[in-house]
Amino acid sequence: MRILVVDDDPLILKMVAATLSRAGYEVLTARDGKEALMRVDSIQPDLVILDVMMPEMDGYEVCRRLRSKPSTANIPIMMLTATGTLESKIAGYEAGSDDYMVKPFEPVELEARVRALLRRRAAPPEAMAAKPEMTSRVIAVFSLRGGMGVSTVATNLAAGLARIWNVPTVLVDMVFTCGQCALMLNLPLRNTWANLTRIPFTDRIIPIHEVDATMVNQALLSHPCGVHVLAAPPTPMQGEEIDAERVTLVLTLLRQQHQYVVLDLPHDFRDTTLAALDAAQQIVYLMAPDIASVHAASRALEVFDELGYARSKIFLILNWTFQSHGLPRKDIEAALRHPIDVVIPFASEPLVDAINTGVPPVIKPSEEPLTVLFEDLAFILSKEEHKSRPPDAPTAVWKRVWRRQQKRQLQK
Ligand SMILES: Nc1ncnc2c1ncn2[C@@H]1O[C@H](COP(=O)(O)OP(=O)(O)OP(=O)(O)O)[C@@H](O)[C@H]1O
Ligand SMILES: [Mg+2]
Repeated sequence: MRILVVDDDPLILKMVAATLSRAGYEVLTARDGKEALMRVDSIQPDLVILDVMMPEMDGYEVCRRLRSKPSTANIPIMMLTATGTLESKIAGYEAGSDDYMVKPFEPVELEARVRALLRRRAAPPEAMAAKPEMTSRVIAVFSLRGGMGVSTVATNLAAGLARIWNVPTVLVDMVFTCGQCALMLNLPLRNTWANLTRIPFTDRIIPIHEVDATMVNQALLSHPCGVHVLAAPPTPMQGEEIDAERVTLVLTLLRQQHQYVVLDLPHDFRDTTLAALDAAQQIVYLMAPDIASVHAASRALEVFDELGYARSKIFLILNWTFQSHGLPRKDIEAALRHPIDVVIPFASEPLVDAINTGVPPVIKPSEEPLTVLFEDLAFILSKEEHKSRPPDAPTAVWKRVWRRQQKRQLQK
């Protein structure tokens, strides 16, 4: 993806270029509007970032001219301005820009917005768009901060869903650099995401059009509890080879074969992560009751708003990863202006045991507190059509979850 950045301020130019190059984009720059208009046809950018205040020709004028030329009329344009006034915003949109950022800005926000603009523009390949995505439900488990229990919740959620409903369910490890899902389920890394990227022991990257449902199914691991796992590649280098396009395709193919797709996501807004967040109907966001986690959650909610996600898509979990002195739930909810849906109590011993043995609590036959908690969580996050009536062939796990639900209803 190629981005043209136009600004007369060399410092801003440098900062924007550095941020976007780091994010993997090819960045070209122009120092004024005239230069930009002269070079735009030869550069053929996928996106233009325009400063508003420039000598000679301002950003609005450059934007209008780009819009009036057929060859550049459809390029996404983002405006950068020093004033965040309503008038300047409206002037920008009237000139034909698609988005707008006020200087100074945070590089992460610039990156997220650029990605959103580019994504909105990229039409999905026909084959992907045409397939009815039946009734599969994609649940992304996410946090902007590490160590919040994302992998723990994703693993227990996926195994719980498979055990309650006995329907095809897949856990997808999106932590490409060092995923833990297979480890948490004690599965050997016989197949991984790497099967969908490169022919083993060769230099040959598998072209994306060769990736199909059969290949995806062959890349899955199976756990005795019924859940399938698409494990992270064995080395971080192999992880680097997976791009957002491949993620979107693989998730689409998985959705055709699975009723539930649970994603264990890394703590970033890279384009592979965004592709997964976009594909999800529900984002389970995890945070601990401390200031740093609340701050990260607040930033994440802001980005979700900017991405246009409905607030109902976000399911907030407060996870007590430490024992005491946490912030009160009410204060966190007030700070975030978002309700906390579920609280996980501090439970270090059973969780350390679970990781060391590769047996997540939700798989245990006994009704231990964590088993109950994760089973109920899986039920809450299930599809409405599943929750609303007893299944044709109820599983033992469904029966006990249902019994608990009924009991709770009675107590209300
Ligand atoms: N409620 C809890 N009580 C005690 N310890 C917890 C709790 N939840 C998670 N942990 C522990 O915190 C650690 C991190 O959990 P986990 O790996 O699930 O989080 P993560 O967000 O996926 O982390 P990473 O950033 O490594 O991907 C693990 O050792 C886990 O056992
Ligand atoms: Mg993790």
